[in-house]
Amino acid sequence: MESPSGRIPWQSLLLAVSLLTFWSPPTTAQLTMVSTSAAEGTDALLLVHGQPEFLAGYVWFKGESVDSSHQIASYAIDAQEMHPGPAYSSRETIYPNGSLLFQNVTLGDTGYYTLLAIKRNFQGDRATGRLHVY
Ligand SMILES: *[C@@H]1O[C@H](CO)[C@@H](O)[C@H](O)[C@H]1NC(C)=O
Ligand SMILES: *[C@@H]1O[C@H](CO)[C@@H](O)[C@H](O)[C@H]1NC(C)=O
Repeated sequence: MESPSGRIPWQSLLLAVSLLTFWSPPTTAQLTMVSTSAAEGTDALLLVHGQPEFLAGYVWFKGESVDSSHQIASYAIDAQEMHPGPAYSSRETIYPNGSLLFQNVTLGDTGYYTLLAIKRNFQGDRATGRLHVY
């Protein structure tokens, strides 16, 4: 792992993800996700506020927990790269600010989503919100 001032490659981020999904960090008051509704076939943006400083990356999960088998994708900030996970449907894009764009949503996309923000010291903050597709 690298010092907080060094560039963090996505391989280190993925390692941090595997450690954090095992440990499952608590939710914090600062990091919040805005629950949203969208009509079927439109695009939905899951907005995130209160990101901590000195971030290494983000990981999005389907569901209310940090569970690697439900990982949609991870985003490494330094590398500006997104890496799909097992729950990726090819319609999701993670923005550099952590928000998740969901294109062409279906009724089956309704549910809870969880964001894990990974800091450069490899600690994590998480937030959960709901997407409702009608
Ligand atoms: C994050 O970035 C996206 C794309 O640029 C933008 O639409 C969205 O408003 C931003 N979110 C916040 C909370 O600023
Ligand atoms: C949106 O999803 C529906 C059903 O999954 C599919 O039939 C349609 O082609 C998709 N539209 C676009 C623009 O991807």
